[in-house]
Amino acid sequence: MRFHVMTLFPDMVMQGLRTSILLRAEEKGLVSFEAVNIREYTDNKHGKVDDYTYGGGAGMLMQAQPVYDCWDSIQRRLPGKARVVYLTPQGKVFSQQMARDLAEEEDLILLCGHYEGIDERVLEEIVTDEISIGDYVLTGGELAAMVVIDAVSRMIPGVLGNHDSSDTESHMHGLLEYPQYSRPEEWHGKKVPPILLSGDHAKVDAWRMEQAVERTRIRRPDLYAAFMEANPDYGKPKGRKKRPRPAKDSPETG
Ligand code: ADE
Repeated sequence: MRFHVMTLFPDMVMQGLRTSILLRAEEKGLVSFEAVNIREYTDNKHGKVDDYTYGGGAGMLMQAQPVYDCWDSIQRRLPGKARVVYLTPQGKVFSQQMARDLAEEEDLILLCGHYEGIDERVLEEIVTDEISIGDYVLTGGELAAMVVIDAVSRMIPGVLGNHDSSDTESHMHGLLEYPQYSRPEEWHGKKVPPILLSGDHAKVDAWRMEQAVERTRIRRPDLYAAFMEANPDYGKPKGRKKRPRPAKDSPETG
């Protein structure tokens, strides 16, 4: 999958993406990243990309022309019409389900705004999806684009090592992750729960499931309610027990 980021700060984006797991994924040819500088597409010699807002108000707005020409130069190189994600606090709040959906694309263009935003007319022409990464306001879309790219990339087969956990996630049924421990067995007087040292895999799995459910109940009542709706028999005395199912639109919080 190829990610194309339209930004005024290409170095920030490339440095953020070319690290750790995403760097390895790019080296393996599973993903590729490019950051295209919108400023290179201005039609004025000063490289100006912003101007005052009609109707007044504080701050500057990114102008339509350089954004459009930057998008056009990327789109012309692609084999088909790519989705264009504009990162904005006004967008749909990002979720695991949206990451899974975007991971189906061959090419994805991400548009990062700065200043007070972008002229609405160019957004109307090129943007297919508007995404917010949460109900707070950042100084620009770059960090949000990196969040989206990270979450989408890890959905792509081969990006995570096999021990890792698109798998674990799907076992987690839209619940929060259970607590985990590594060596030593005792640290600062705290012992690893003995069941994890028992070697009894069935018991360990059952314990982890209980922990995940309890943690979700306490920390995320919304996810817990969705899980219980999908698994009404969970926790009831055993008869013929069904395998737990993910909640509808399970966020697979892993
Ligand atoms: N740009 C500024 N704030 C943002 C947010 N919360 N999500 C996505 N893009 C943004």
